[in-house]
Amino acid sequence: MESVQKTITYLKTLLRNYQYQYYVINEPGIPDVEYDRLMETLRQLEIENPNLLTQDSPTQCVGGSSISSIFKPVHHKIPMLSLDTVSDESSYLVFHQRLKKRLNISKGITLCCELKLDGLAVSLLYINGRLVRASTRGDGLVGEDITANVRTISIVPEYLTGNKIPDYLEVRGEVFMSHAGFKKINQTAYREGHKIFSNPRNAASGSLRNLDPCITAKRPLTFICYGLGFFKGRSMPRSHIACLQYFKAWGLPVNDNTRLCYSSGEVIKFYHNAEMKRPFFGFDIDGVVIKVDDLELQKKIGSSSRAPRWAVAFKFAAQEAITKLNNVEFRVGRTGVITPVAQLSPIRIAGVLISRATLHNVHEINRLGLKIGNNVVIRRAGDVIPQIISVAKPDVDSNIIVKNITIPKQCPGCGSKIRFISGELALRCTGGLSCAAQRKSVIRHFTSRKALNINGMGKAIINQLVDKGYINNPADLFMLTIDQLISLERVGQKSAQNIIDALIISKKTTFARFIYALGISKIGLVAAENLASHFVTLNFLLAADLNALSSVYGIGQTAASYLKEFLDDANNREVIRMLVVEVGIYW
Ligand code: IVH
Repeated sequence: MESVQKTITYLKTLLRNYQYQYYVINEPGIPDVEYDRLMETLRQLEIENPNLLTQDSPTQCVGGSSISSIFKPVHHKIPMLSLDTVSDESSYLVFHQRLKKRLNISKGITLCCELKLDGLAVSLLYINGRLVRASTRGDGLVGEDITANVRTISIVPEYLTGNKIPDYLEVRGEVFMSHAGFKKINQTAYREGHKIFSNPRNAASGSLRNLDPCITAKRPLTFICYGLGFFKGRSMPRSHIACLQYFKAWGLPVNDNTRLCYSSGEVIKFYHNAEMKRPFFGFDIDGVVIKVDDLELQKKIGSSSRAPRWAVAFKFAAQEAITKLNNVEFRVGRTGVITPVAQLSPIRIAGVLISRATLHNVHEINRLGLKIGNNVVIRRAGDVIPQIISVAKPDVDSNIIVKNITIPKQCPGCGSKIRFISGELALRCTGGLSCAAQRKSVIRHFTSRKALNINGMGKAIINQLVDKGYINNPADLFMLTIDQLISLERVGQKSAQNIIDALIISKKTTFARFIYALGISKIGLVAAENLASHFVTLNFLLAADLNALSSVYGIGQTAASYLKEFLDDANNREVIRMLVVEVGIYW
């Protein structure tokens, strides 16, 4: 018994600490999945040992005490409750059966199913149709006055429009940030040397609870209504879905993915459907919310001090887990962009074994403060490639030995110089024409219609030629033999001869097409034409310095520097020499 008591006390302290990190300072110390697991362990222990249950336990409170002394307090007329959660079908069915039992009905119940938005709960108060106050949920009873900040969210109407608006109307919903908005503010933050947010929810929370509304105004926050709070002066509809329709008619944003379901089967279908669409919504959701639609029935079923009994959050399977970062490999993509890929100790997330995660770009390594040997939090969202979210706080394993990640200076595909492109936060290989990783796309571009227009040289043939090692760069195309071509799948004597003929014809081209065919970043056909008419001969182009290149009409600084690096690369120069001297391309 004593040891159970000790465990409970330990879990309470741990959870309170995590709640503080999550709700107050906006820096979650552990992934949601770990937090939920600890909370569930505590809840189970309290169920098994009811004498050890106290009112101040984190299992009995809405959230962390998120009231800072900075914003004015707002007392909610109706508490802003949290939601109980279920995370698999069988637990959902238990909830569904319990509802039916509570209502004493054997037939179906009408349930309103919505997306569970991953942001911050906010209450908006409209008096005579005008927004007069906005507040956070806080501890459920008292929140923070964030009116000035919410006023900067353009989707939140200052005035409601339409008819039958109650004199006093409180609506509740979620403020969040889209994936696109999140990416944009982090890119700006990086450029300006400010703090980078670890996920859209933190970004939304940090932005909303910023002391300067001018800063909030610059953040791409959005809002969706999901419920009715206190109202007076007019009656409201009797169902939740009708309230949402009223909100919409008054100009308040609601989510269109809301559906009524009449059986547990339909709810489960809704859940799976939302899970399938999850990667495509463009914003984070962490489950669906199922609510009894009839407001009278909601009242009849009632709530506990923490959550209503008429609703449940049906959460998606855990998307996050902790594992070890064993190495970082740098991979060259088809376009020469070099991406760091994390090699992980294999771990199962939602049934899928994960051993790699993308790091997007080198900046991500610095942003996360990653080191080889770190324990990291991995997130896999639906079909999206797994990502490293953060370095796990080493609360147990603090003695792990870590090693810095070395950013390569040369391309792992061809050894050419690597260039850092600050606008794209990317590393790029400069050895376009001979880089093994870029071979297929370089050759495909070279043979394409607007380039050398080599008839019959399709993608499938190029792939086979590269895979068999017959060609490594565009110049090799012109050394191909009939026998090599015939050895390919679906290439007969006649088509092989046609390809050889097309190669011979393609040698007579224009200078502009030749420049374009080299596939230099930012040098499209128009830029190639400008370069060709400016320099006239290849020798002049090869001899041009950065100034001369950027003085060409239509060639900006970036294009000029890409061009310079490309032309300076020894491998590229050798391929160009082969094309002109050995192959005999002419214009
Ligand atoms: S209804 C009394 N509906 O989830 C019921 N909440 O984990 C109150 N949330 O505090 C909530 N999407 O911030 C409801 N469609 C939705 C929601 C939603 C996200 C959030 C909300 C709430 C939290 C509970």
